[in-house]
Amino acid sequence: MKKILLLEGIHKVARDILEEQGFYVEEEKGAFASEEDLINRAKGFHALGIRSKSKISQGVLEKLQPHLEVLGAFCIGTNQVDLEYANQCGVPVFNAPYSNTRSVAELVIANIISLARHLGDCNMKAHKGIWSKTAIQRHEVRGKVLGIVGYGHIGSQVSVLAEALGLKVIYYDIVKKLPLGNAEAKESLEEVLKEADFVSFHVPETHLTKGMMGINQFRQMKEGAYLINASRGSVVDISALVEVIQSQKLRGAAIDVFPKEPPNNKEPFVSELQGLPNVILTPHIGGSTEEAQKAIGQEVALSLTQFFKRGSTSGAVNFPNLEVPPIKDFRRIINVHKNVPGVLGEINKIVSENSGNIQAQHLATDTHIGYVVMDIGGCEIQKVAQEISQLKTSIRTQVLEHFHEGA
Ligand code: NAI
Repeated sequence: MKKILLLEGIHKVARDILEEQGFYVEEEKGAFASEEDLINRAKGFHALGIRSKSKISQGVLEKLQPHLEVLGAFCIGTNQVDLEYANQCGVPVFNAPYSNTRSVAELVIANIISLARHLGDCNMKAHKGIWSKTAIQRHEVRGKVLGIVGYGHIGSQVSVLAEALGLKVIYYDIVKKLPLGNAEAKESLEEVLKEADFVSFHVPETHLTKGMMGINQFRQMKEGAYLINASRGSVVDISALVEVIQSQKLRGAAIDVFPKEPPNNKEPFVSELQGLPNVILTPHIGGSTEEAQKAIGQEVALSLTQFFKRGSTSGAVNFPNLEVPPIKDFRRIINVHKNVPGVLGEINKIVSENSGNIQAQHLATDTHIGYVVMDIGGCEIQKVAQEISQLKTSIRTQVLEHFHEGA
């Protein structure tokens, strides 16, 4: 039975799913302060589930061999894991990059209405005992133009929700993207900036997006427009934003991500934007909801299940991706090997020498490794796997014969 250790208070749904699938699960509420403690606790487990605080270095991976077969990062980022070394050990790493898409999209919608009605300032004043009732420069969002920059998972969700509110959506993406609903693609960022009442950024951090919203871009925006950034802190030049808010070129902004963010809730937060009118500042909470945590738990638990039961590596961040069907009447061998010429020939030779019949064979490779999943019959599978594992090129070889779907 595969043994799985979950650390850092991963959502309960993950344990429920994994146990239901017949795995043995243990849990720890927190992360380990030292690598040594982590290694001692995780030794012998076949899978490790972590969030952002557990650092999985080369040293940790080395010590957890040969048992550790797979890592579940129950979060979005995977910087805490030495992905390259995990790849070379034949350990796929799964995360859940899109589980919080809806949460971010909903925050953006909340921001659009809040900016149009100056809710942030009204709320702050009311708490201080100031009655500040006015209709001047307060607007409905119906009929206004929302410009989305980056029409990926989040951008396109925002598009759908915004249209339901009666906004007209235009967008710009470097890749050609199918417009949803009545949204309209624009050829350039400039076109979006010129036409939109609200501009919302949903791009990743790349060399092209760093500082993509600077003073020249702000100057191209409509008078009295609003800016929203819930993507990455490096995308918007904060000093330029301060300038256009102070000059009243822009009527407000909602910022959830910053170039420099406190590492935890105990450290102070400092920004040039503090104290500016109709500027909503939130502590990178776009994806922080219980629903997103649950979705992360479900997604990664499913990836671990499909890896153990089928050998599927679809969605792994550091591994050749293979989506394979459930095991039916055959038995399955998975093999991770060094990506050098001739490996598949050697593997197939072993199967044929054992009078095995290959029913299906799937192969995917990356720079360093190759990953093959094959269904075979008519031979002694443990013997075949043993011989394949002896090849000089083999990194990890396993038989999946005991794991049938829905065990
Ligand atoms: P995605 O990868 O699905 O979409 C990004 C889109 O941006 C793609 O369509 C891509 O083609 C486009 N793009 C890339 N470079 C571009 C450029 N130079 N100009 C125009 N378009 C460009 O990513 P997803 O999931 O929609 O996430 C978007 C951003 O949201 C990411 O930066 C992510 O880190 C951030 N995010 C923020 C959260 C928060 O808590 N505030 C939570 C989750 C994600």
